[in-house]
Amino acid sequence: MRTIISSLKLMLAIALFASTSAFCQKQKMIIPGEVWPDNNGNHIQAHGGGIILLDKTYYWYGEDRGKDLDSSLRYVSCYSSNDLINWTSRGDVVKMQDPENLGKGWVLERPKVYYNASTRKFVMYFHLDNSRYKLAQVGIAVSDKPDGEFKFVKSFRPLGHESRDIGQFIDDDGTAYLVFEDRPNGFRIAKLSSDYMSVEKEMCLLPNHMEGGAIVHYNGLYYAIGSALTGWSPNANKYATARYLEGPWSEFHDIAPADKKTFGSQSTMMIKVVGKKNTTVLFMGDIWKPRTQWDSRYLWMPLEIGEGKLWLPEPKPFSLNVRTGDVDFATD
Ligand code: GAL
Repeated sequence: MRTIISSLKLMLAIALFASTSAFCQKQKMIIPGEVWPDNNGNHIQAHGGGIILLDKTYYWYGEDRGKDLDSSLRYVSCYSSNDLINWTSRGDVVKMQDPENLGKGWVLERPKVYYNASTRKFVMYFHLDNSRYKLAQVGIAVSDKPDGEFKFVKSFRPLGHESRDIGQFIDDDGTAYLVFEDRPNGFRIAKLSSDYMSVEKEMCLLPNHMEGGAIVHYNGLYYAIGSALTGWSPNANKYATARYLEGPWSEFHDIAPADKKTFGSQSTMMIKVVGKKNTTVLFMGDIWKPRTQWDSRYLWMPLEIGEGKLWLPEPKPFSLNVRTGDVDFATD
């Protein structure tokens, strides 16, 4: 009997070790479209997200659409990483009650966090709406730490305009911008005030109706990506370029073969990784699963970018070295 119990104990110990070590094992690659486990082995919940870099640590914020959450609250999660591949869960930094009497099915989407070095505050912008998407406002929540808790401060229409999907852009000189979709007019790029607590100045209105806005500044040109307005269904995302944020902007062109519909994803951000040898720009997109949102996936891929051209290649696993900026693709 004793031997049976001790061998059972041994088997249990081996099983436990195998499962925890699998979770703790460092991941070497980003695999577009697959389940992306965090340090606890749970699929990352950071949809419609944004990323900031602070002292060599990346923070990824996004919608937590976990299966068993309280349906009256809205959640934003935070993850941290030193390599953009392995992410440590820092928990939910927002667990918000309906802040403006919006009613059942109220919406908090596409959270984006900016760090203000002069006030030392982390300022989160998000799309705040009612279930019919008629409010069209941004909300602001603030924290003293990157991993919360963020407290709701206010909501408003930026510069008086409707705002649904928002995007975040921080230029090389540190200036912070908000990109927002203004349904009657188009795609707006606006500068934040010095404390980031308000939207101060319009840089540009592109008359194109695009959402999921993302911008990168690369080799003297601004590249803006947006998606068409097709809800959770993917469409062919497009890009335009300009020498100045104020424009003039080029026409919009497909970022991938139009029939691939951005390989089933929708843009949320571009991340520029400036390494010692190379600069890599990553496309960050969401593969939405509207009926099983907790299982929505991510499509991250290095872009082919330069001289006014931007292209999202066919997704495949890759590794990235944030120190050198080099990318390696899996050989199959
Ligand atoms: C998409 C948008 C998402 C979400 C969805 C709701 O167009 O990008 O963030 O708002 O619509 O249908």
